[in-house]
Amino acid sequence: MTEPLDPTARAAEAAAAIARLTGVDRHDIGLTLGSGWGRAADVIGETVAVIPAEEVPGFHVSGVPGHSGTLRSIRLASGRHALVIGARTHFYEGRGVRAVVHGVRTAAAAGAGIMLLTNGAGGIDPAFRAGEPVLISDHLNLTAASPVEGANFVDLTDLYADRLRALAREAEPSLQQGVYVQLPGPHYETPAEIHYLRTIGGQIVGMSTALEAIAARQAGMEVLGLSLITNPAAGMGEDPLSHEEVLAEGKAAEPRLAELLSRVVARL
Ligand code: 6GU
Repeated sequence: MTEPLDPTARAAEAAAAIARLTGVDRHDIGLTLGSGWGRAADVIGETVAVIPAEEVPGFHVSGVPGHSGTLRSIRLASGRHALVIGARTHFYEGRGVRAVVHGVRTAAAAGAGIMLLTNGAGGIDPAFRAGEPVLISDHLNLTAASPVEGANFVDLTDLYADRLRALAREAEPSLQQGVYVQLPGPHYETPAEIHYLRTIGGQIVGMSTALEAIAARQAGMEVLGLSLITNPAAGMGEDPLSHEEVLAEGKAAEPRLAELLSRVVARL
C-alpha cells in the first residue's frame, strides 16, 4: 500500500498540474474569492486559463451555491500572475482541515508570496453596514481546529500583514478594519453567541478565512484579508438570516468589490 501524501507534497503535485494546465510556471499571488467577490476575477487582469477543479489533485467541486468550481490563472497589468482559487472547501463540508487549506498551500507551492483571502461575513460591530468591504485586521479562530500539524509553533503576530493593509488603504482610504471571527458553521449564530463574540472583541463573523490565513503564514506567505459585510449578525439587525440573502447582498456589491480588488491587486 502506498503512503498517503503529506499536505505539502500534495500541494506540490497540485501546483505542478496547474503549471502544466495553464502554461504558467509561477504564480505570484494567491486569491480566494468569497461571496460577493467573484466578479473581481473578470477585471483584475487578463485570464490566461480556467481549469476545472477536478483536474487538479486535492481539489473538490464545492456543493455550496455561490462558489465556483474552477481555478483561474490571471496575468496582471504588472506582468505578474495571480492564481484564483474558485473552488474553496469550507470547514463545514467535513473534509477536514487539510482540504480547507489545500488551495492556500497550492498557491504557496505555485510560488505565491502573497495570499489574498476574501469572504462574505456578518457584521457584529454596528459601525459596519451591509454592502461594505472591511479589511481584516486580526482574527479569532473559534473552530477548535488548526491546519498546523505536529510540534510546529507558528507565530501569528502580524498575521494580516501591516504592510499589505497599508497598501490596501492607499488604494481605498475609506476602508475600515475589523477583527474577523471564524466559526465552524454551517448554521448561523444565536443572538447570545453574537453578544459573546462582540464582548471578546469580534467585529465580523464568518465560516472561512482564519484557518486559511494560518496555513498561509505557516507556508511563509504574507496575508491580506477582506470581508464583504453581507448582513448584520444575529440580533444586530431586523431581518432573519439566510444564505440567499447573503448571496443577494454579495451580487449587489460585486461591481464595487471588483473595482476595489483591482486597485488593491495593482499595488501588491
Ligand atoms: Cl451572521 N455568521 C456567519 N457565521 N457567517 C456569515 C454570516 C453570519 N453572514 C454571512 N456569513
